[in-house]
Amino acid sequence: MGILTPSGDRGPGAETITDLAGAVTRAAGEVRGRLVTCVGTDLVDIDDVRRILVRQPRFAHRYFTAAERGYCLRTGDPAERFAARLAAKEAVLKALGVGLSGAAFTEIEVVRLAGGQPRLALTGRAVALADAAGVRSWLVTLTHSRHVAHAFVAGLSDASA
Ligand SMILES: CC(C)(COP(=O)(O)OP(=O)(O)OC[C@H]1O[C@@H](n2cnc3c(N)ncnc32)[C@H](O)[C@@H]1OP(=O)(O)O)[C@@H](O)C(=O)NCCC(=O)NCCS
Repeated sequence: MGILTPSGDRGPGAETITDLAGAVTRAAGEVRGRLVTCVGTDLVDIDDVRRILVRQPRFAHRYFTAAERGYCLRTGDPAERFAARLAAKEAVLKALGVGLSGAAFTEIEVVRLAGGQPRLALTGRAVALADAAGVRSWLVTLTHSRHVAHAFVAGLSDASA
């Protein structure tokens, strides 16, 4: 998690009001003309994920795509990144109003753009559930500290308000 500064003071992890305004404008552009039809959120304890990664060698393969594993395992603390993505997958299932068995976790992928922004890519049963719910696209945001990871997602329809 970063620190918001009112000036141009760029400490590590610091964002300025100008950065924030740009991010809000971009986010508004993605939402414009579409309806938010559902939202979901989840919080994951990073130490829980750290323990599971050690105790269950298949955990990462079972719940994460190859691209997700590739990214998480390249970072200084993979458990932190895995936890954020787990939160995003659970948040999508919540948004779709189904339980954890509604779709395979690998059918909900967090894709990382070149600038670091996360996006959601659904496949298989997750796509069918989203179609049935009238969701045509998603917004997702992640954050993680040393202890917890959080994700928030919104499902968007095509329709204009
Ligand atoms: C976005 C940013 C402010 C978040 O940093 P932070 O507060 O230290 O970290 P948080 O835990 O709150 O958030 C991390 C998550 O933010 C998301 N994120 C990263 N860059 C992002 C961006 N540009 N826009 C939106 N979300 C971003 C990612 O999902 C990341 O999680 P991940 O590393 O597991 O993929 C920081 O990563 C940043 O400033 N990135 C540079 C963005 C930029 O200006 N890029 C220029 C293009 S190269």
